[in-house]
Amino acid sequence: MYHFHARASRHRFGSRPYSQSGRYLLGIDAGTSSVKSLIIDEGGHVLDVARSKYGVARANNLYAEQDINQIWDSCLETLNILNKNNPGVMRNVKAVGLSGQMHGLVMIGEDDLPLRDAIIWEDQRSSSQIQKIYDVIGREKFCELTLNKLAPGYLITSLLWVHDNEPELFAKIKSVMFVKDYIRFKLCGMIATDVTDASGSPIFETAKREWAWKFIRDLELPEEIFPPCFEAYELAGEITQEAAKLTGLKAGTPIVFGGGDTLMSAVGTGTGIIKNFWGVNIGTGCQVICAANQPLYDKEFRTNTFCYVNSKANNKVERLWMLMGTNLCGGAAMRWLASHLLNNIKFEELDRLASSAPAGSDGVIFLPFLSGSRNNADMRGMFAGLSLNHDRSHIARSIIEGVIFSLKDSYNLLKDITGSEPEAIIASGGGAVSELALQLEANILNKPIYTTCNPEEACVGAALTAAVGAEFYDSFNDICASAVKFNNKVIEPDAKLAEFYQERFAAYKDLLARNFEI
Ligand code: XUL
Repeated sequence: MYHFHARASRHRFGSRPYSQSGRYLLGIDAGTSSVKSLIIDEGGHVLDVARSKYGVARANNLYAEQDINQIWDSCLETLNILNKNNPGVMRNVKAVGLSGQMHGLVMIGEDDLPLRDAIIWEDQRSSSQIQKIYDVIGREKFCELTLNKLAPGYLITSLLWVHDNEPELFAKIKSVMFVKDYIRFKLCGMIATDVTDASGSPIFETAKREWAWKFIRDLELPEEIFPPCFEAYELAGEITQEAAKLTGLKAGTPIVFGGGDTLMSAVGTGTGIIKNFWGVNIGTGCQVICAANQPLYDKEFRTNTFCYVNSKANNKVERLWMLMGTNLCGGAAMRWLASHLLNNIKFEELDRLASSAPAGSDGVIFLPFLSGSRNNADMRGMFAGLSLNHDRSHIARSIIEGVIFSLKDSYNLLKDITGSEPEAIIASGGGAVSELALQLEANILNKPIYTTCNPEEACVGAALTAAVGAEFYDSFNDICASAVKFNNKVIEPDAKLAEFYQERFAAYKDLLARNFEI
């Protein structure tokens, strides 16, 4: 097992001792680099956020693992900070929701303990298992039922890797699950998952919102290790006595299943619920998303289709799906530059450095595939166009530009699939706190960019999902309309720079096509 020292921090939002509505909600997001926990009231006022950080163990170029007990400890640490700093508030939390990093494999044994460290979504070891799955099921058949194509780092490919390489451990599996499911299991004792995460496994009938049982049987996997699967807002249970002692929450507090971080972040920004905007998220990875009321998908499966929550239109509840284009390396590329090449400089400093380079980084182009790609696991990062006059500022800016070019690639695919284009885009994640990244998103995607007033969109989404599950609100539309607020400042594209970046994007695409098969 790998252990990382967790560092905790918290952020206060003024002194707002009492909920304006009297009902507090707790959202927990077990991400890739930290657990964040947030208390919010139904009016969308954030009382407090706490964060506890950890690392990813990378034993080699391909492996990415995390100790799930460390993530649970970090979760407890954040809840204890919230409890200590907001006396009495945890006991007044009326519902709990969860969000978490998606796709990775968590396995527990008969004793309910993790069997090994989680093989997370960034892991690239399971390429050969993809072919094995396609050989049994057929690639077309697999993709057409799941609405996704396979990539390393997904639950099913990692599970097959464990089957092939760690058979003794495989034989001991009682249940597989995703990261947030383990946290929920510890809080309420229910072993289960939800449709947003399960569709990212992706051994899942995404249109029908249930496990792809036939494929599970075809692969001769034990059906019983796939846990029951629910909608994100359904009630999973109640905080147990034991969890209450550890967290300060009241035993009996309802807890919902919750969902994958991209989807919960979409709820937290009202994406596809209160506004027909699309979303762009830059966290460790980065994604472009748009909601659809039918399971649309790319015929070549270059994007993902996952289950989302539901919306209410004309008094009718509609199930939603989320179309998503992703690059595994978003903020991770900036973190890599800061920690591996620039002596751990602070993000703000890196941002200042990047802002001092000219638009287009004076010809430097970066291909942001340091963690491979779901479309081609062999892809890697690359800088092009370097000359002797370039310095760190050009490198820093080209990284941000390259990440947003990769988002533009996905954005164009989503436009083709949906035959539509959004009026505007909502930015979220760490990228939404960088003015430079926001302006580059506006210029490169050539769309106005909105941001929400609250930080930690995935935590907010998890908390709002809890409010729907506990039936404080009738629908996601109602709670999002009341709790999601946008900053007045909308970042508009600059027409000239948008045109300039159109050319730079063509150069990026050209470099990509010359070097990698996609
Ligand atoms: C989405 C994805 C990320 C991870 C990490 O496909 O990989 O959302 O969940 O945050």
